[in-house]
Amino acid sequence: MKNGLPVLPSTASIHEAIRRLEEISSTAAFVVDETQIFVGQVTIQQLRRLILSGADSASRIESYAAWHTAKLAKSELENEGALAALAEDMELQGIDAAPIVNKTGKVVGRLGLADIRDLLGRGRHPKARPAEPRTKNVLVVGGAGYLGSVLVRKLLQTGRRVRVLDSFIYGKRSLKPLEGHRSLEIIEGDFRNIETVVNSLKDIDAVVLLAAVVGDPAAQHRPEQTIETNILAAQSLAFACKLHCISRFLFASTCSVYGRTDGVLDEASPLNPVSLYARSKIFSEQCILDLAGDNFSPTILRMGTLYGYSPRMRFDLVVNTMSMKAHVEKRIQVFGGSQWRPLLHVEDAADAFARCLDAPLEKIGNLVFNVGSNEQNYRIIEIADLIGASLPKVKIEVEAAQLDARDYRVSFDKIRRALGFKAGETIPRAAKRIDRELSLGNLRNPYAKVYYNHYFDAAEES
Ligand SMILES: NC(=O)c1ccc[n+]([C@@H]2O[C@H](COP(=O)([O-])OP(=O)(O)OC[C@H]3O[C@@H](n4cnc5c(N)ncnc54)[C@H](O)[C@@H]3O)[C@@H](O)[C@H]2O)c1
Repeated sequence: MKNGLPVLPSTASIHEAIRRLEEISSTAAFVVDETQIFVGQVTIQQLRRLILSGADSASRIESYAAWHTAKLAKSELENEGALAALAEDMELQGIDAAPIVNKTGKVVGRLGLADIRDLLGRGRHPKARPAEPRTKNVLVVGGAGYLGSVLVRKLLQTGRRVRVLDSFIYGKRSLKPLEGHRSLEIIEGDFRNIETVVNSLKDIDAVVLLAAVVGDPAAQHRPEQTIETNILAAQSLAFACKLHCISRFLFASTCSVYGRTDGVLDEASPLNPVSLYARSKIFSEQCILDLAGDNFSPTILRMGTLYGYSPRMRFDLVVNTMSMKAHVEKRIQVFGGSQWRPLLHVEDAADAFARCLDAPLEKIGNLVFNVGSNEQNYRIIEIADLIGASLPKVKIEVEAAQLDARDYRVSFDKIRRALGFKAGETIPRAAKRIDRELSLGNLRNPYAKVYYNHYFDAAEES
């Protein structure tokens, strides 16, 4: 790495260049000949497109670097005309940075387009700006959902460009306030359609797959759609990413894959699914991991049961249901109660995905992580008690019948060690927030079908 952009030898192959750029999460590299003289630059998007259009991945990058030759001589740093011409060249060539070269043509520095605008605008040296995110262009499939609508906001806040592909099963309300955001593109479509998938991968650096038929009841109601979406479409999307040389692929899986198992489970523990939903996630995890290799390093994130307020609210998740019932009915019904369940706030889940987009690929690629925190393995009765204690005048009623067979405790050591991930949110805070949103009338009818995943026919409150 030299002066902010990596430098590659002109003898490197397209394949090596893509691998190197992905390793260091850079979108472009300066290319130099054997005497270290600048010959041009290559961008990762350009290299991916070359492979897709049939270029030999073993061919040298030398001739492709000649497409982007914009540069500035060191002696011209104070020359406004030269700077303006360089900015124009860079815009034409679609590149964000250009080298500063010395008399012999060697790279001695780097100028970003924004730096040039600063220099031209103010006639002084560029000010420090926030670091660019590692992966700039992210496709979030299922970005309008409960987790997606929180994650998309987080990614936009960190300066990324986000494209959402979603079929809007539960309506468009969650992303409505973001419409027109200059870094957000929304594609309405079904990712079971391969043409839609291929179109949405254009110029993308990383893919987050959230879309699915989500939850045991939803999958039980729609078994065919579950298999098409959760397994077949997930596999096709992963395969399309591999063909497009998009290595960073984050797959939303679930701790439900552990089903009903004693002890504290880690990523290597045996799986014991008790529903079609969980089985579909195990199949898709496997199909996706089987594709791992050159130009494809997927990451599987097995999340605990999510909770908390989201712009696409769900009231079919244990903490949310109990908080809502505590608000509306002033009572929480608990069925069984002794079952263990790992829980994770939706904001913390989004944080885990964002960390994986920022992490070096070798730290997260081809790996499975449980996502949650050891402290948030709860028995169902403990969840009810916590919510009951957080909100006023709530009665807790325990029924003997156990409606949900899932019962498992999970270790989250691996993600803490690899990414320093810690959950920051808590159940009492989430319960209070849900209570407040209901009091404010932001969720007018919490019993409306749109808040429950097994109804697929309600896109708005009714
Ligand atoms: N919510 C949880 O407790 C939880 C826990 C563990 C894992 N997960 C996983 O996280 C992911 C997101 O869950 P969620 O709670 O946000 O679910 P969600 O149902 O709120 O969101 C799913 C989104 O995907 C979209 N979608 C579904 N099928 C599609 C298709 N064929 N084409 C395009 N878009 C489609 C839906 O319109 C929706 O916006 C899922 O993969 C789920 O399995 C969720």
